[in-house]
Amino acid sequence: MNDIMSKSEDGEKIKESIKKLLKKRNAILLAHNYEPPEIQDIADLCGDSLELSIKASQTDADVIVFCGVHFMAETASILCPDKTILLPAADAGCPMADMITAEGLINKRKEVPDTVVISYVNTSASVKAESDVCCTSANVIQVANSVPSEKPILMTPDKNLAQYTLSRTNRDIRYWDGYCPIHNNLTVEQVKKVKKAHPGAPFLAHPECPPEILALADEIKSTSGILAYAAQSNNKEFIIGTEVGILHPLKKANPEKTFIPADPGMICPDMKKIGLPHIQLALENMAPEVRVPEEIRIRAKAAVERMLTVPRT
Ligand code: 13P
Ligand code: SF4
Repeated sequence: MNDIMSKSEDGEKIKESIKKLLKKRNAILLAHNYEPPEIQDIADLCGDSLELSIKASQTDADVIVFCGVHFMAETASILCPDKTILLPAADAGCPMADMITAEGLINKRKEVPDTVVISYVNTSASVKAESDVCCTSANVIQVANSVPSEKPILMTPDKNLAQYTLSRTNRDIRYWDGYCPIHNNLTVEQVKKVKKAHPGAPFLAHPECPPEILALADEIKSTSGILAYAAQSNNKEFIIGTEVGILHPLKKANPEKTFIPADPGMICPDMKKIGLPHIQLALENMAPEVRVPEEIRIRAKAAVERMLTVPRT
């Protein structure tokens, strides 16, 4: 009991200290929807990759504490070269982003002359620098449709997001063979089992899931799209096909509704690397910092900014 008391007191002390440090550094804290609950609860903004990029591009803060993974902090650095971008756990990466390199993309591009390369925001800055435009799960269809219709498209690195885009557009789309291990592992058997146990509950899936899973989905949305859909729906029960971190904001915003993970094992270890002590330490030491070299940043920025000009519908 005493142990529990002192742990929660410690937690409160760290939160107070983080609050003070954020103020002192003129910093804001951005957190992805998959981050642990205690981090989402103290963030200035929680969101999907697109919302976090937009917020990063608009803030007046001098410092952005990015609670997410490396490519997200890099995107903030691409958009805000004058700000200090802190990633409190330097090793929080994304296995899908690591499935493609700039060199690999340069070689692949040669196979399809005149192709337009759309890279998911889940890529390194150097891959973005070799891309024509970026996309996120929230705007991928609009981005693909913004490409002149006669141009072939090469999508990287997520084959599942690409196949989803192919199914929703009338475009000539080739794709890289990458995937998110967490979403790609969800099986049809598992989804069918959960659906059978919860008949009538809509199945909301993230487009990083494989095509056979998306075929079972009632709605296919980004993490914030799932949050928005659940909030406005009259349903009382939902099956959620994405990383389980999303359950926290879903439950918090909709206490009267029930959210069932399609698979409770959908946990992204990289999204759980940051804890409150890491944030405190990062703000004290102003490290670990993520800064994209200028030569790469300029070219990557063109692809990110081109995405930001595509109207959201
Ligand atoms: P969104 O929050 O943009 O849907 O992205 C999901 C994701 O996998 C981030 O790593
Ligand atoms: Fe990467 Fe998948 Fe983790 Fe997102 S959930 S950071 S795509 S591994």
